[in-house]
Amino acid sequence: MSDILELIKSRRNITQFLPKFVSWENISRVLDAGRHAPSCGNIQNWKFIVVLKPELKQEIAAASYDQYEIGQAFVLIVVCAEPEKAERYYGEKGKKFYTIQNCAAAVQTMLLEAHSLGLATRWVGAFDEEKINGLLGIPAEAETHAIIALGYAKELPPKPPKYPLETLVYFGGWRAKIADPAKYLNDIATILARKAHTATEVIHKGRDLVAQKAKEMVKK
Ligand SMILES: Cc1cc2nc3c(=O)[nH]c(=O)nc-3n(C[C@H](O)[C@H](O)[C@H](O)COP(=O)(O)O)c2cc1C
Repeated sequence: MSDILELIKSRRNITQFLPKFVSWENISRVLDAGRHAPSCGNIQNWKFIVVLKPELKQEIAAASYDQYEIGQAFVLIVVCAEPEKAERYYGEKGKKFYTIQNCAAAVQTMLLEAHSLGLATRWVGAFDEEKINGLLGIPAEAETHAIIALGYAKELPPKPPKYPLETLVYFGGWRAKIADPAKYLNDIATILARKAHTATEVIHKGRDLVAQKAKEMVKK
């Protein structure tokens, strides 16, 4: 897939995985994508723990509030942070705020790389951090931010609804709108819908005109 926007739009959060092998080449490509994600001041204060052992995956699934389906994924990538590193450079904001953003950027970058390889992912944020840290020996100075379940999809869920762009974008200030946002935001769906509406109106007008003419001819 070459169009990055298509890639972004077609990625789905997958709940069910096939018990299917994923090559190490593909796993390492996904990890490498995470490595290249943006981070505040390029500090890259993340670590990625790769979990392949079935029993450990099951325990992680149980510690993720019984999301047992992730145990079926071929691999779990646990994304951890070293917040102290961010604190050293950026104080409290680095520790609390940037660290979360850094890890989220790494996660999303890995999800997209996985999707480009035809792999499926599930972003897991709901877990008992203490339990996960205990299972993986994660020290107190580190934090667990996310678990990526990676494998092949058993089924593709339908695309969940996303808000239209024009409801999300303000221009120049909070709640500041412009007259025709669809036009400026290249909102293809809205533009096509309008064109289709106009075309339908033209067809209906033409049909009514022909019917009118036919009636007049019959009268004559
Ligand atoms: C911070 C965060 C935490 C999430 N935690 C979970 C989770 O624990 N389990 C899960 O199945 N999905 C989780 N998701 C995935 C969302 O449910 C999913 O992205 C959302 O429903 C939209 O679907 P889509 O990704 O297919 O567009 C999480 C996503 C984010 C960003």
